[in-house]
Amino acid sequence: MDNKTLLTRNTPTLYNSGYQTTQFYDSRSDILENQLTEVVHNQEEMKGSLKQSVVDLKKSTAYSRLFNAAYPAEKDPLNTYTIANAIASYVRSLQSLNSPFDEYVRGDETKLTKAEKKGFNLFSGKAKCATCHFIPLFNGVVPPFYANTESEVIGVPKTKNKNPAELDDDLGKYLFIQSEIYKHSFKTPTLRNIELTAPYMHNGVFETLEEVMEFYNNGGGKGLHIAPKYQTLPFDKLNLSKKEIKDIISFMKTLTDTTSSKKLY
Ligand code: HEC
Repeated sequence: MDNKTLLTRNTPTLYNSGYQTTQFYDSRSDILENQLTEVVHNQEEMKGSLKQSVVDLKKSTAYSRLFNAAYPAEKDPLNTYTIANAIASYVRSLQSLNSPFDEYVRGDETKLTKAEKKGFNLFSGKAKCATCHFIPLFNGVVPPFYANTESEVIGVPKTKNKNPAELDDDLGKYLFIQSEIYKHSFKTPTLRNIELTAPYMHNGVFETLEEVMEFYNNGGGKGLHIAPKYQTLPFDKLNLSKKEIKDIISFMKTLTDTTSSKKLY
């Protein structure tokens, strides 16, 4: 960590992350307490120590008082677990389920235009997006039990250069589970607030939703001739027309919810 070099992965949103059963693009953590502990100690990220945080926070009578009040059953209320749990509890409170799409589903039929509804139907049908970006979180959390969070191999390129395209070298989930099927496998990210969170993919290779759609319309990595052996994205071209692509993008924009962030201030 030199405060200058960029990390290799795009930062995911914290909204609704409490609903995921795995954390990080490579799914290496399960609950948020473990995710946080990993980031704090990661040599390339915070390079810190929760044990040191205990020592530092104990110097503050205000924090000691707050931890005593929040964790009365703990023998020593200010410890590495309670620090992680306090922050993870805050992250779990960051929920965002109030987009025009949600309002429409809750019964307000004025919230979606014809084109947006057409886009939703394409998203869930011809374009196959909802076979991985599951409704309602639009990520890999699988309904109806929400007990698993899936990863997929779609073949994201290293750069936008197509002559020839090159597969991104990040091995994703394989770094933690050495099984061939996990080479270049990444947790399916949410599409909620996608309009506001460019660039896209684990490496941020695409800058616009139009670029993302072109990638999918051509069969992902397969269309660029860089497909990993076990690409799970269907190989076929989607044959979406320009109008259909436009409708899918306008649907994705109905997943924008800024009301939840406004509540914080
Ligand atoms: C086979 C499963 C699968 C299908 C089908 C699929 N996706 Fe994805 N999607 C993923 C995965 C996995 C990623 C993350 C890949 C990465 O970063 O390497 C992703 C990433 C994205 C991103 C970028 C998210 C971000 O935060 O950077 C967008 C946008 C997206 N998909 C939209 C779509 C749309 C629209 C469709 C339908 C045309 C679709 N996806 C179909 C699995 C899938």
